[in-house]
Amino acid sequence: MTLLEAATAVRENAYAPYSRFKVGAAIRSASGQVFTGCNVENVAYPEGTCAEAGAIAAMIAAGESRIAEILVIADSPTPVPPCGGCRQKIAEFASPDVTVTLCTTDGKSNPVTVADLLPGSFSASHMTRSTDG
Ligand code: THU
Repeated sequence: MTLLEAATAVRENAYAPYSRFKVGAAIRSASGQVFTGCNVENVAYPEGTCAEAGAIAAMIAAGESRIAEILVIADSPTPVPPCGGCRQKIAEFASPDVTVTLCTTDGKSNPVTVADLLPGSFSASHMTRSTDG
């Protein structure tokens, strides 16, 4: 199954009664396995979670921790970009050169990289003075 097929299928399961904006995400991990996630909203709005976060949680729960490729899809006019928080979450498990394919349900797609989405990202290297002891 392609990432596009996997993300399109899982998007149908999104729980988005408040925004009515369903999102699907699919990750191919370093081992080649595919993990999916959809957004899960909550009546207490800030408790809702994004599709990317769900896919990452599924990957981690399965014992994998490196993203080789990720695709996100929604019914948006232009290919849907991950929110700021999800950019940071993706960067935790993906190299800067990893492809993030942003898609619409009507067939538009825009491949970008993790570095494109989160230039100058905060990383463990920025904490070295604090962790030196
Ligand atoms: N959403 C995602 O799942 N991923 C994104 O990258 C953008 C936004 C969800 C969160 C919320 O359930 C709905 O889309 C509207 O913001």
